[in-house]
Amino acid sequence: MAADDRAARSEATGTEATGTEATGTEATGTEATGTEATGTEARGNLAPRIMAMSRTEAVMAEIRRRLAGRSLTAGEKLPSIRRFAREMRVSPSTVVEAYDRLAAEGLIRSRAGSGFFVAGGVPPVALADAGPRLDRAIDPLWVSRQSLDAPPDMVRPGCGWLPADWMPGPAIRRAIRALARADDSVLTEYGGTRGSRALRQLLARRCATEGLDVGTDQILLTASGTQAIDLLCRFLLNPGDTVLVDDPCYFNFQALLRASRAKIVSVPYTPVGPDVARFTEALATHRPRLYITNSALHNPTGATLSPQTAHRLLTAAAAHDLTIVEDEIFADFEPEPSPRLAGLEGLNRVIRIGSFSKTLSASIRCGYIVARADWIEGLVDLQVATSFGGPSPVAAELVLGTLGDGSYRKHLAALRGRLARRRREMLGALEGLGFNAWTLPRGGFYLWCHLPERRDAAELARAALAERVVLAPGNAFSVTQSAGDLMRFNVAQMNPDVLRVLGRALR
Ligand SMILES: Cc1ncc(COP(=O)(O)O)c(C=O)c1O
Repeated sequence: MAADDRAARSEATGTEATGTEATGTEATGTEATGTEATGTEARGNLAPRIMAMSRTEAVMAEIRRRLAGRSLTAGEKLPSIRRFAREMRVSPSTVVEAYDRLAAEGLIRSRAGSGFFVAGGVPPVALADAGPRLDRAIDPLWVSRQSLDAPPDMVRPGCGWLPADWMPGPAIRRAIRALARADDSVLTEYGGTRGSRALRQLLARRCATEGLDVGTDQILLTASGTQAIDLLCRFLLNPGDTVLVDDPCYFNFQALLRASRAKIVSVPYTPVGPDVARFTEALATHRPRLYITNSALHNPTGATLSPQTAHRLLTAAAAHDLTIVEDEIFADFEPEPSPRLAGLEGLNRVIRIGSFSKTLSASIRCGYIVARADWIEGLVDLQVATSFGGPSPVAAELVLGTLGDGSYRKHLAALRGRLARRRREMLGALEGLGFNAWTLPRGGFYLWCHLPERRDAAELARAALAERVVLAPGNAFSVTQSAGDLMRFNVAQMNPDVLRVLGRALR
């Protein structure tokens, strides 16, 4: 142990030397909450966003987070006890206790006279440890897992997709029957590296309807929208790079960025898009490499970018040489197309991604990237390296068959009408329970609502889960944890039982 640490340890043998301390208000966190932007760096003093944990556990969690994020690697020396105590704003005895416990777990080792070091092998990446340790009710990964793994008897107004009987089942069945007659090569061989040319041509025609002139060499088919974002993170980011997201944003953006070991900074989202003043400020302060956003209909708010906001965002991005990934996954739900960054800017610094999971099928995994041809070229290599191809040719054929079927447009028109009615109905029902819509979406299936009397959404989610209803509490979407009294409802997954459960839980 180093002299500094020895002194700190002997200093720490006083009153609060060991044992589990009471949860303090000031030292429970692993992440700084600035007013508008947070990194995933540890700075202590961050009570509200982290579930209650003792100070010792908070110090341990921070070391685990650094190990998971590879900012501490095998053999590396840990911060000295005094320094880390100052950084975490805890007493040296707390750090001593935390280091001792981590040593007992075998994660770190004490070396006589020189301090603590990371033990042997670095543990495998644990995404749950890579960010701040959150209450499971608001942990993005946990909310996704609850929705994906819910047994059929559970209701999922917290999930991000439509019920099966809202999807174009008959058109998909027709495409499957047609596929049964396809060449054996489609059914058995790898596809080309960019994916089905016919489907890329169809996507290029869709881009042309909004004045975005792209060739098929500017489109790459991917296994999904998620896969598209993952590829782009690999393509554009180095570990430690800063990425800007909206607050709130689609929760898996956060999880994916954690997997890329990016530093996440968020900008408040307003009913017409991100707050441009804060966006510009964040560009100057944090110099992010990338901004990932979701236009058309924003997840979770259902808001739509205004033309003025889009213009100002693009001006700021150009001034700071920022690349933007624009996810348009909900575009087909719009009654009229709204301003899209890719359409306005061309594809110089904006990359468009999307998929067919929301309006066609989430089971037929297929997504796309539309970008500059030279970037697509690099992305093709990455996709070969990481998945040896994009969507399976079978999936691409099914998407093509269904989109090309004249009934798809009719399906979309009917879906928009059905959703508009359901949004109205559910809005009325939720208002009856005291909820308040944050904005009135033009389309889609989300309602982002304030809870009555600013009640705690995570608490409501826990109570509902006990009655087999999966909800999506606001802070799962918020990097700054500033959405504690908001809830995202998927109106298509609501029913009278859900409303009864909500009513009971709020009583
Ligand atoms: C904004 C956004 N992007 C991407 C995805 C995931 O899309 P995919 O199913 O294509 O991976 C979702 C799913 O909810 C989403 O809401």
